[in-house]
Amino acid sequence: MTSQVERLGILTGGGDCPGLNPVIRAVVRRASAEGISVQGIRNGWKGLVEKDAISLDLNSVSGILHKGGTVLGTSRTNPYKDPKQLASLKANWTQLGLDALIAVGGEDTLGVATRLVQEKFKIVGVPKTIDNDLSETDYTFGFDTAVNIAMESIDRLHTTAESHHRIMVVEVMGRHAGWIAVHAGMAGGADFILVPEIPIDVEEVCAAIRKRHERGKTFSIIVVAEGAEFSKGQTLQKDRKLDAFGHVRLGGIGDALGELIEEKTGFETRVTVLGHVQRGGSPTAFDRVLGTRFGVKAVELVLKGEWGKMVSLKGNAIVPVSIEAATKKLKKVDMELYEIARIFFG
Ligand code: F6P
Repeated sequence: MTSQVERLGILTGGGDCPGLNPVIRAVVRRASAEGISVQGIRNGWKGLVEKDAISLDLNSVSGILHKGGTVLGTSRTNPYKDPKQLASLKANWTQLGLDALIAVGGEDTLGVATRLVQEKFKIVGVPKTIDNDLSETDYTFGFDTAVNIAMESIDRLHTTAESHHRIMVVEVMGRHAGWIAVHAGMAGGADFILVPEIPIDVEEVCAAIRKRHERGKTFSIIVVAEGAEFSKGQTLQKDRKLDAFGHVRLGGIGDALGELIEEKTGFETRVTVLGHVQRGGSPTAFDRVLGTRFGVKAVELVLKGEWGKMVSLKGNAIVPVSIEAATKKLKKVDMELYEIARIFFG
């Protein structure tokens, strides 16, 4: 135990995700056992820019394990977009007396962490995203909960689709990668799964639907990730507004696809967009355990002074990896897995 950290900050940034509270609880519990005081920075990097922090102790993290969201709040703030914000963040780091920080986030939040580490700030990362698209870790917490919510929705859609002899298109989250679509689609018995990694071939989807009908089925379930495109670079967007990290709001692919399917096959089609329901509510047991293991291990990396490292799940072990490597390139859907899913199309 060498890092001599007395005051540790923790923040959660980017889209919220079930499992964040188990991480916060685990960090406070493990740090307190070492006599380290913890400052909870509110609303991601915004809290450091605005010096908005609260002291966290055993009582403040009691009873939060099963709760979704994050008790610290979150935002998509990129302090590197504005030199004034960055200067204020650095000044507040000193004023809050932070010796080190645990940053819990996805590619954007951890991308900021990478740059701060290059400027010698003492930061350890914890990966989170329901999209499961961060490299260097087999899974991120939040993903399992999202998949289970989507799977349950697909189960429910089956009975109404079957009763009405309809095609149901289900749009799930997944901006750059189709992990939720593939896992929920496989678990829910989808008849076709569309992901951002492969351009949509509407004729192929319709052929699969027709094939089912020819063998007597009168309904089909098609799962589509929100980031799936008809041709490369053509994602459907809700509006053109960009967030601090340059992302647009996605949405609309389900409706566009549903219309085409109905037009081409003549089968009545309905569209369900699951949206933020996939990010809300209580984390699954898997995500609570993973969040807890990540939180404990993150404090252990702080104790060892392993700055610039991120906790990660490899196989069944929690191991340190470089935050920089984890954020360099996104983890896309494994095509071997997709090929297994494809066996069940049609
Ligand atoms: O990154 C996680 C995610 O849920 C994506 O799947 C989705 O595109 C995005 O966040 C939605 O973000 P917001 O909460 O800003 O609508």
